[in-house]
Amino acid sequence: MFLAEDESVGSKLFTALQQDVVSELETRFAGAPCGFTAAPGRVNLIGEHIDYNDGFVLPMAIERYVVIAANRCEDPTRPFARIYSLDLDATIEIPLNAGAEPTMEGWGRYIEGVFSGFVARGTTIPPFDAVIGSNVPHGGGLSSSAALEVATATLLAEITGDALTKLEKALLCQRAEHVFAGVPCGIMDQYSSVFGEANQLMLIDCQSQDCELVPFDSSGVSVLITNSNVKHELTGGEYAERRSQCDSALAKIGIASWRDVSWEDVAAKQSELTDEEFRRARHVVTEIERTIKAADGFRNGRWEEVGTLMNASHDSLRDDFEVSCRELDVLVEIAIELGQEHGVIGSRMTGGGFGGSTVTLVEDAKVADVIAAIQQKYQEVTGLKCDCFASHPALGAHVIQTQP
Ligand code: GLA
Repeated sequence: MFLAEDESVGSKLFTALQQDVVSELETRFAGAPCGFTAAPGRVNLIGEHIDYNDGFVLPMAIERYVVIAANRCEDPTRPFARIYSLDLDATIEIPLNAGAEPTMEGWGRYIEGVFSGFVARGTTIPPFDAVIGSNVPHGGGLSSSAALEVATATLLAEITGDALTKLEKALLCQRAEHVFAGVPCGIMDQYSSVFGEANQLMLIDCQSQDCELVPFDSSGVSVLITNSNVKHELTGGEYAERRSQCDSALAKIGIASWRDVSWEDVAAKQSELTDEEFRRARHVVTEIERTIKAADGFRNGRWEEVGTLMNASHDSLRDDFEVSCRELDVLVEIAIELGQEHGVIGSRMTGGGFGGSTVTLVEDAKVADVIAAIQQKYQEVTGLKCDCFASHPALGAHVIQTQP
């Protein structure tokens, strides 16, 4: 019920965004259309902070997109692309021969990083003008930056004819994030934005970089995303710190990959690990196990088990990995307190943490009531407003066929 309604909300928003971007392109930039692309944000159902630890993650692309429309520039010798952001009402110029180091500031860095990746492949980028619009909440932990990178890469592939594979595209965008945005992220966000499929979750094996699709359609359960509207500072530094704590714990455990580490291996080395390293290790090992079990639970509709695993994932992220924050904990507590009686199956923080969003599984028929209850209680407790929406698993990056 609610899903069907929400599906039309998601697709209506997407259509409106496409229209806005195209009409802005028409008024702002002359020239023949040469590319029109979209790439989605993502929400991760379970498997947090283990993509950079050779683990499994279980995300889906969401019905919120970055859209780019481009016209070929009439002067073929112009050495830059001109890009206008509808949301920021700002124009930037990106050098077509982008080098290995960032020269831009802010959102231009993500785009320059993707340009640089194509240049490094030996691809010549022709000058163009483009308009970008987005309805992926910015700073909501839903990978708006990965969506921007992947939409840009999809546009450049279209304009240049560079037939890079999907995996090459995801890796190129991840590298842009590392080098140009300075965030040493794993592969999950860019991968989800590239590989997303309608009505499918992705069980990504971050060691082999393969992905198994897990069907998830209107089986009576909705994925509810709640943006806490809080983004704490220090996220970049904390993220890199977690990565290095995991690396140092693994080195002390003396096994090459977290995939081969058992709980017994961690326990056996407890005395050599610092308390922090021990707790980080406990999170990694237990979260890998939870994710594999949860994928099987989704596959077979064992909702109670999936819910228990999601709740346990949140506890582990809060206590052992220490990447939650009060606002996220409040949202999860409210959802869990509503409980089965109100149709809540499970709830957890999603993404990098320190703010951003939670993901909650809710019985379809109860979604509207759950949203109302969460919003009211969250405001009572924190004084803040949260934004809620349900999303189906959505199609990943693609060329939009309608001519701009
Ligand atoms: C961020 C990173 C991802 C992943 C998550 C945590 O979103 O970009 O690679 O590590 O945090 O699971």
